[in-house]
Amino acid sequence: MVQDDVFLHLDDAAANIDLYLKIEGLNPAGSIKLKTARSMVEDAERRGVLRRGSRLIESSSGSLGIALAVVSAAKGYRFLCVTDPSTSALSVEIIRALGAEVVTVNRLDASGGYLGTRIGYIHEQLAEDQDLVWLNQYANPANWAVHDRCTAAAITAAVPDLDYLFVGTGTSGTLMGCIHHFSRHSPGTRIIAVDAVGSVNFGHPAARRYIPGIGTSRRPEILRTELVDDTELVAETDTVRTCRWLARRYGLFAGGSTGSVVRAVLQRAPELPAGSRVVAVSPDLGERYVQTIYNDDWVTGTYGPECLKESDDELFELTRARN
Ligand SMILES: Cc1ncc(COP(=O)(O)O)c(C=O)c1O
Repeated sequence: MVQDDVFLHLDDAAANIDLYLKIEGLNPAGSIKLKTARSMVEDAERRGVLRRGSRLIESSSGSLGIALAVVSAAKGYRFLCVTDPSTSALSVEIIRALGAEVVTVNRLDASGGYLGTRIGYIHEQLAEDQDLVWLNQYANPANWAVHDRCTAAAITAAVPDLDYLFVGTGTSGTLMGCIHHFSRHSPGTRIIAVDAVGSVNFGHPAARRYIPGIGTSRRPEILRTELVDDTELVAETDTVRTCRWLARRYGLFAGGSTGSVVRAVLQRAPELPAGSRVVAVSPDLGERYVQTIYNDDWVTGTYGPECLKESDDELFELTRARN
């Protein structure tokens, strides 16, 4: 049921490289997170932590919430999803439609995000209800293990002799799974961790962010920065511009993190040797972002009118001129 073999070849995105996007948005539940949700639930079942009728709690900015709601419905678990205002209204409605409960925390944490507040809320709930089960995607090895087994294995099978792999960093499950897999099976592939400006994952200063998926306001426990040898930061304004460009230029209606990873590739392309084979992981598609990234009023109200000044043609010309 997992769609691990869908790749889109963007052969002219940057003239000197051969770029493939690994499309994860066609998975059931609409994102790469179906694999994470299933892996963590089945691991907890094997360990005897989860039994039929158990109640789960998890923090999510949307995609994992939807995926866990799908898995919980299918397996007969109750599920309470803790989200924040950057979660799209559509994601919240989908999670509720799947029979799960949603709580939205509104208080910013010390790093200007909501993750600290979401996790604080979970600790309060766990203290009150001893039967509640927290899978904790930020610290759970079953999160990255599935990307070692599936996501990364599918990339090495589809694109042998890969030179560069660009992976967004939220919980870092995808990134750490790829790092573990490629270190064994393709150690010559250089992995570039993509993060948002304002995220604390790699020790950069915290700042307010509005797009869910990539970036955190609290470093996840599974992220082992000593294993990451290259990072590329992307500003949210560039994420927005790149999503819109992908939609109009290629007909690819991409989610926010896809805009970020593609922008990271374009930022790096001038330094990459001619003919490099590059894969970027595209975690979801654009539907959940119609009211934000693809909405002119939201974009200008959030980032100012300058954000939409770089036209699609200018962005395209820029990437060609640099190569
Ligand atoms: C849309 C989207 N992109 C990227 C990510 C980051 O993936 P990971 O948590 O494996 O780092 C997430 C994680 O929630 C996501 O929902």
